[in-house]
Amino acid sequence: MAKNAILAKLPGALLPWYDAGHRELPWRRDKDPYHIWVSEIMLQQTRVEAVKGYYARFLEKLPTIADLANCDDDVLHKLWEGLGYYSRVRNLKKAARQIAEQYDGIFPDEYSQIRSLPGIGDYTAGAVSSIAFNQKTPAVDGNVLRVLSRLADDDTPIDTPAFKKSAREELEKIYPDRAGDFTQALMELGATLCGPNRLPDCENCPCNPFCLGYRRGTAPSLPKKSPPKQRKAEQKTVLILCCDGRFALEKRPNKGLLAGLWQFPNVPGKLNIREILAEVEKLGVKPKEILVQVERKHVFNHIEWDMCGTYVETANCGGDYLWLTAEEINAQIALPTAFRLFWESADGLCAEKIFLKKPK
Ligand code: ADE
Repeated sequence: MAKNAILAKLPGALLPWYDAGHRELPWRRDKDPYHIWVSEIMLQQTRVEAVKGYYARFLEKLPTIADLANCDDDVLHKLWEGLGYYSRVRNLKKAARQIAEQYDGIFPDEYSQIRSLPGIGDYTAGAVSSIAFNQKTPAVDGNVLRVLSRLADDDTPIDTPAFKKSAREELEKIYPDRAGDFTQALMELGATLCGPNRLPDCENCPCNPFCLGYRRGTAPSLPKKSPPKQRKAEQKTVLILCCDGRFALEKRPNKGLLAGLWQFPNVPGKLNIREILAEVEKLGVKPKEILVQVERKHVFNHIEWDMCGTYVETANCGGDYLWLTAEEINAQIALPTAFRLFWESADGLCAEKIFLKKPK
């Protein structure tokens, strides 16, 4: 990890650089812990540009922690639709309820209390407590780890618990009084000059006088990461059942992947046409015609779905399903991306096309 002497120079270099100009981001307009918390949860695994719209819509609909605590799950999921990792938003609501019950609806300002809320790990607790409450608590995410590995010319894989722990411990020692600004400045450097998936812009970096990766020319090849784990592949046949302009939807089980979210009916394995027709009958729906089939893949953290989506026109709205129109689905239903792939398919295999093919 970074040598103490290198890290000790960070605040003096980064704060003036941050003060001289940084991105104007919606969650930098105030220090409300609720706002910072929501933004940090959204920003996990999602790009800044993509988060902006979600952030604005979320806070417009749920301006207070109490609004979040009392929000209907379907409304909440709709606000999150497309961001993925829906457990994050379920934990947001759980934590909001806990804040309502334990802290009178006021976001706690003690690190240990923040850290113990559902869905809040070391990173988020550090970010909220430093940005909203100016406490000297590092927020170590992938961007910060990349900066540190380059500064110290350290080729330890940054995704190891040991590297993360030592990053947190070493940063804690050098946190300046302007803790919130320092957290943001470090994130800013890790997202811009020292950003991911491109060569670092060392020439313009305020840290280049003391960056070992720059001095030794190793910065572009850092950070190192552990080899990726193999994902398990699962095959599925997804059934987009359409009857008179209504589509069959069902809720997923309350536990596991995409828990409690809506989906198109689906079965394991890749079925042939005969098997699909038999399966649809078994589900209590009378198939009329198979319209079209499309192949799609969706990759989760540990698993990959290899799916064949089959659009079936049916003679009845049977089975244990909710049958909704395209308008209702678009307005009310948070359809996870894995299933949305068949709804707004790049090939134009959308509901409207099917309506055109098969007018009522
Ligand atoms: N990435 C994670 N948190 C961020 C923040 N607060 N500002 C900009 N990018 C971020």
